[in-house]
Amino acid sequence: TDYWVVVPAAGVGKRMGADRPKQYLPLLGRPLLSLTLRNILSWPGLAGVVVALSKDDEFFPHLKEASHPLMHTVIGGAERADSVLSALEFLAQREHGDTPVLVHDAARPCVAMEDISALLHSQVAQTALLARQASDTVKRGSEISGVQCVEQTLDRKQIWLAQTPQRAPLALLRSCLSQALQQGEAVTDEASALEIFGHSPQLVEGRSDNIKVTHPTDIVMAETILRLRYA
Ligand code: C5P
Repeated sequence: TDYWVVVPAAGVGKRMGADRPKQYLPLLGRPLLSLTLRNILSWPGLAGVVVALSKDDEFFPHLKEASHPLMHTVIGGAERADSVLSALEFLAQREHGDTPVLVHDAARPCVAMEDISALLHSQVAQTALLARQASDTVKRGSEISGVQCVEQTLDRKQIWLAQTPQRAPLALLRSCLSQALQQGEAVTDEASALEIFGHSPQLVEGRSDNIKVTHPTDIVMAETILRLRYA
């Protein structure tokens, strides 16, 4: 089946402290978003891409991928979930509710084709996401005398770190996201909106090099990963 990809890219990237949103910072001499879109456009079975942009975005039209026939844009919202919902509203005008949608962060240029295949072919649950099992020992902290102290050590085997893409049928994701936002829930990924309404997305173990570019050192890491991959 063909599927659509939604790319939330409407963030302003405050944590980077740069002069432009992080999705436009240069990586291997090209804007980060450009590399992510180039990667997505190589996935077999792709029906189209919807990129959610900030209303003040002035960089997107300059990307090489902007004029690709499968590329569409919408104006995003205040939070990541609002941006994704805006893209889903666009899709709902033209696609069937069963259409598979993969939501993928603009900030993850390194996701490998083998992980995309694994995610598309994971059909045990109706919804799924790429994720990594924690490799560090995980503590829950709480404040004691004004500093964070260990409250508990969690069972690391049960801890997964969510990556993207995250996969769900268009209508289901749209309804869960919009209801979760209406209820004022904290929704930092698509799976969390699905969980609120009783769904249990399948955890598909992804590669550790599908990093999210968040801090300045992540740029160097992503460049190294991509250089090794395409060398
Ligand atoms: O800040 P963080 O790295 O969690 O953002 C994840 C993704 O969500 C980024 O690609 C960012 O551009 C996007 N985003 C968005 N709309 C917002 C905030 C973030 O599309 N209002």
